[in-house]
Amino acid sequence: MSNNLTSQSKKSDGLHVAVIMDGNGRWAARRGLPRVAGHRAGVAALKRIVEHAPDVGVCVLTVYAFSCDNWARPAAEVQSLFWLMRAFLRLETERLRRKSVRVQIIGRRDRVPAAVLREVNRTEFVTAAGRRLLLRVAIDYSAREAIARAASLIPERAEMGDARGALQYELTREAGEVDLLIRTGGEKRLSDFLLWESAYAELYFTDCMWPEFGPAQLDAALAEFRHRERRFGAVPDAAVPRSAIAVGGAR
Ligand code: FPP
Repeated sequence: MSNNLTSQSKKSDGLHVAVIMDGNGRWAARRGLPRVAGHRAGVAALKRIVEHAPDVGVCVLTVYAFSCDNWARPAAEVQSLFWLMRAFLRLETERLRRKSVRVQIIGRRDRVPAAVLREVNRTEFVTAAGRRLLLRVAIDYSAREAIARAASLIPERAEMGDARGALQYELTREAGEVDLLIRTGGEKRLSDFLLWESAYAELYFTDCMWPEFGPAQLDAALAEFRHRERRFGAVPDAAVPRSAIAVGGAR
């Protein structure tokens, strides 16, 4: 796997895996713990996956930490989620830098608490040279908002083809399209996550609660992914051969 994450090369560099980290609350409730304990365990699970992902052919990992709709949760839970994100960024930045992980936040920044935003900016700056893994954390994120924002940048007179191309460029230039979208926690929906970028993603739903999702579970998801035939709307013969969906293979 090459270490270059530029838009031209990333297609052959490895996979873009996106994760909806669901099930923290239920994991905690089953143990008689407060929901925040589930989120804390969720952060620990995230650290394990970040460690493992580059070793198994993942070059971009996009995780859903907080959606625009999550503001509707009780204020205390929202506060603890932001507290955990801030602590994660503060405590893990140096380790991530050493591991050559580049961190990027996607989503709105105007409503994120100032103290968290400061850590976000610092972490993005400190890890900017990371080439082994691009870790994108979606905070105050909505795919529909992201698409609408990208569309607002396109000149009104753009032809339909131009508009689609411009949106594609705007929404995928940093990280490419999603290859595999994993949702833990047993629900089977996309919850406004990476709707454009996942147009041809393979979907993998598991009953495993996020705090229990570890390297073995990621390996299982990737093993299933590699057995899927990706046709991208074409007929089987014209599609990318299954053998090319190996670590570092052309897709
Ligand atoms: C959904 O589970 C999970 C979230 C809304 C938050 C996910 C956040 C983390 C794993 C921690 C984020 C921290 C960093 C550092 C990125 P849920 O609580 O809705 O679970 P439930 O469906 O069982 O209630």
